[in-house]
This record gives sequence, C-alpha cells and structure tokens, in this order.
Amino acid sequence: MCGIVGFVGESQASPILLDGLERLEYRGYDSAGIAVINDGVMQVEKTVERIKSLIDETQNGATVKGNIGIGHTRWATHGAPSHANAHPHLSGNGKIAIVHNGIIENYLDLKNELIAEGVKFVSETDTEVVAHLLQKYYKGDMLDAVKNAAKRLEGSYALAIINTDTPDTLYAVRHFSPLIVGLGKDGNYVGSDVAAIIKHTKDVVYIDDGEIAVLTKDGAKFYDGDGNQIEKPVSVVDWSINAAEKGGYDHFMLKEIMEEPEALRKTIEPRIKNGEVYFEGLKLTKEKVKNIKRIVITACGSAYHTGIVAKYMFEEILRIPVEVDLASEFRYRNPIVNSEDLVIIISQSGETADTLAALKEAKARGAHVLSIVNVVGSSIAKASDDVIYTWAGPEIAVATTKGYTTQLAVLYLFGIYAATLKESCDKALIDELISELSTLNKKIEKILENKEEIARLSKKFCTDDSVFFIGRNIDFAVSLEGSLKLKEISYIHSEAYASGELKHGTISLIEPGRLVVALNCYEALSEKIYSNIKEVTARGAQVMATAFEGNEEIKKYADEIFYLPRIHPLLCAAVEIIPLQLFAYYMALNKGCDIDKPRNLAKSVTVE
Ligand code: F6R
Repeated sequence: MCGIVGFVGESQASPILLDGLERLEYRGYDSAGIAVINDGVMQVEKTVERIKSLIDETQNGATVKGNIGIGHTRWATHGAPSHANAHPHLSGNGKIAIVHNGIIENYLDLKNELIAEGVKFVSETDTEVVAHLLQKYYKGDMLDAVKNAAKRLEGSYALAIINTDTPDTLYAVRHFSPLIVGLGKDGNYVGSDVAAIIKHTKDVVYIDDGEIAVLTKDGAKFYDGDGNQIEKPVSVVDWSINAAEKGGYDHFMLKEIMEEPEALRKTIEPRIKNGEVYFEGLKLTKEKVKNIKRIVITACGSAYHTGIVAKYMFEEILRIPVEVDLASEFRYRNPIVNSEDLVIIISQSGETADTLAALKEAKARGAHVLSIVNVVGSSIAKASDDVIYTWAGPEIAVATTKGYTTQLAVLYLFGIYAATLKESCDKALIDELISELSTLNKKIEKILENKEEIARLSKKFCTDDSVFFIGRNIDFAVSLEGSLKLKEISYIHSEAYASGELKHGTISLIEPGRLVVALNCYEALSEKIYSNIKEVTARGAQVMATAFEGNEEIKKYADEIFYLPRIHPLLCAAVEIIPLQLFAYYMALNKGCDIDKPRNLAKSVTVE
C-alpha cells in the first residue's frame, strides 16, 4: 500500500525521488519522506502532509543534494501518521536509511531483542527494527547484512536501503511485496511499481520473493536469499508515461472512466478470432475446461463484485455451480477446494495481500488457478497457473473503474469460451454473446457522450446523506459496485440490496426523500423490480432508475431514468456500471472530495 522509489546515478537524486513519489502517491498518502547521501552524509526530509509540501519545502529537491537516495509515501499501519513514523527510518548510528512497503509481522520480538541489546527506538513502526537489524549485521559487507537481516524478517516487505559507508550502492530486497528495478541510461532505479520510474526507463526487472538487488550507477546485480548471484530477464514495459498522467482531466478517475471504451477494445478484440473466443497460451487444457464441475471465484472489493456478476452469467450458460468468496474469508475458512475445481482469482493490482493468500490456499489444495490481472509481472500473475491479462493500462485513481469493466470483459470471454467447449448452451446464444461483446466499447462511448446528464442528476441528489441501490440478478451484482463507488469517494452512506430482500428489514430505512437507485437492465425481472420501486415510492422515496433504451414502462415508476444502449442482458453489467461510476464521481465532485485519493484508502492493498 505504501510506495517506494530509489535512484543511484549521474543526476541529482531528490527531484527524481520526489517525482516518483508524486506518481506513487495513490498507494498511500499519510506522510512521505526521502533520504539522500551527499559526500558521505545522510540527509532525511519528511512531511506529514502530501508530497506537494515536501516538494515545496525542498524547492523540488534543490536543497537535498546527492546522487543516491530513497523515498517513501506511507499508508499508516503501525503508528499514526507522524514525523517520527514517516519513512525513511534510520539505524541508531544514522548511517543506514531504509524505506519499507509491507508489514514485519515479528517486529515486536525483534524490537524486544534489540532493546535488550541497548538499541533506542524513535518510532512506533514495524519498519524501524529493520534499520537497526541492518546496523547489527553490517560488518563491512552490506550485501551480507541485507541477506542476514532479511532472514530474520517474517511478514511482507519490499525494502530499499542506502548506507553512508557504501555511498555508491543502493540495495533492495523483497518478500511478498512488489518491487521492480528500472535500468536507465543515466542511472538505475527501484520502485514499488512501474509508475514510479516509467518517466526514466521502460526496461525493468521484476524482483521475485527472497531476491536482493544491488544497484550502482553503472548497472544492477541480483542475488538469491543466500547471496548467490543470479541472472534476471529484462522486460520492456508496454505503456508510456502519458498513460500515468491526467492528460488534461481534473482527476485520474474521470480520465480512466473515459478510457473504458479503449481499454475494453484492447481487452476483448485480440481474444475473438473467426467468431470464437480464443486465449493464447493457457495451460488449462480444453479437456479440463470441458470437465470442470465447479468454479470458485475469489477476490476483494470491486474485483469480488465482478465475480458476483460472473456467477450469474456462468451459472446461466455453463450450468455448473459457481461460488464467489471474499478472499479475506476464503483464506481463513478451511475452504473445500480440490483438483476438480477451477479457481478464478481476480485482481487489478495483482498484489492484494488477501487475494494472493487465497490463491496460495487454493493451489495448496490442488486446484488449477486462473487469475485475471491487470498489472503485468505482479505477484498474483506470477503465482497463478494461468493468467489472462486485462489490458486496461495503468489505473491510478484509488477507485477502480476501467479495472472493473475490463475484469468483467475477461470473465465474459472466459464464460463464453467454457460454454463453447462444454456445449452447455445453444450455439446461437454463444454467437449472440460474442457479437454483442464486440459492440461493448461503442456502447460505452455512447453512454459517455451523455455524461452531462449524470452530472445533472448528481446535482439534484448531492445533498442526500444516504442512498440505496437495488436490483435483481445481475442488476443486484451491479448495485453492489455502484454503492461501493459512491461511498468510497463521496463519503455518502449507501447500501446495496437485492430488491426482494428490502421488505425483510431494510425497508424500515426508507423515508420521504430517500434516494433509491433502481437498476433495471436485467429485463427478465422488470416486473419484479417495478413492484419493489412501488414499495419504496409508497414510502416517499425518490427513484432514479437505469433502463435500456425503448423501455417506456419504467417511466410510470421512476422519477429519473438514465437510458442505456441495449446489450444482451447477460452482459448488461458492463454498460450499467458506467452511469453509476459517473454518478459517484460527480457526487464527490459536488461535495469537493479528494476524488483520486479518498480518505483512509490507498490503491493496492498489500496488507491484510
Ligand atoms: C474499489 C477498489 C477496491 C479494489 C480491491 C481489490 O474501487 O478499487 O475495492 O477493487 O481493493 O483490488 P485489486 O483488484 O487490486 O485486487
């Protein structure tokens, strides 16, 4: 959840670190800091404000000289956001500085051990123990110290380390937290993700668990956990700096919503050939797909919501049971999964700690794990038996949008692929779904052309302090995501309900003026949702509904209607979510919220 960046090279390090931190700020924004070595002296600068204030205080790094340094943006876990708890952390002698992403689970034992040896702690963080351990193990060979300290650590970490005794060398090590090395012309970089360094280089090395990277201005060497040198492949990142910038939009979230048609085109088009769904290089054999008896989907947050959409679609066209489980529950509930099952893991970042742990649990029980991931080279992608990438490009806004719809697209494709092999539904339906899927991006373009209508509706409703989203079947699955989007960025309380459940308790919360967003694209159940709308309007609720173009009936029941281009109902989630994403965006905008960096949240949840 925290972001780390490091540089060693010809240029002054601090402007590079500060720029990298700004690009990583979406990973955490409680505090930030940099440490740079100049003429053998360590200089540390920190802020408990946003990175911008660190940039201002250091005159964009001008006051922090030196060609080697590390930086960090924090999402607090151990200790409040404070100057003392902000990274970088120093060893007791002030010679070693470290930044850390992850959680050191045995930090209390280590802390007690170090205190008994006379070490004084200045922060409440788990991280500080690592700086002191490094000093303890440093006997003139820093690689040795990193190796020995890492062996004492339990939990997850990506660490970048500098030492005034080795002022030309930057060390980095990882275990269960993302870490990449960037190889540039004027120096070399470490980062917790590509966004931190893409401005400088596209040549990256993905560090694996237990590995150590040693960087100088001339190159990088890699070692396994025992200190043996290893060779690592260099990958070329296939997106450019523009993809990680706002490009004229006020917020990344709006930019990423506007990118959805293109992200969907890139995700879908290459996988449809001659009217059939095709996946390159799957280890999952066609025979195995034909014989799948059960699918288990596990993920967190919005990714979990795409799994619920998939359950409705898969069960309809595959006629096998599909279970969807929150990864944080799955991993700790002794799940019944075995080699007969296909487990689908969904994650935009590919680094979500609970999702990664669920993946490992499923693999340990013998299931074939297919993951749907956006970030290439991420931990989940690496640990899976098969990966189908969503080609959404970098997603910077904390609230996912194009991540969600491209996950849906891959799920749709996989459902169609499996139904074709299993011959579990009519060929005519398969052909229709494939042809409809190819039109998805154009339909979403059309919705986006009408985004001012959503802006208008959000003005009408932005003073509401509580909103209900209701729907049935796939509409219910979408309502979960619409509600999450609204609450996470606008801080308006909202709940999503399967509309048939309302009268089993929740309807007591409906009072005059309450906004109910009724989703009505799954038309097979329209009559049912009309009844539910009548139940809430009878109690004074105002209803904003979604409906497909041509649905005149809905006008009798809803106060406001947002019409959507027609698509096959099994695919309706991908179009129906667009107005809900926009609605959340404009509601948050009207309230003056920090849309891209909502309070208490961070992108890429690498702690459980
Ligand atoms: C909500 C949101 C989160 C993520 C969740 C899983 O807008 O973005 O709920 O969906 O944290 O993240 P990934 O997909 O990276 O595993």
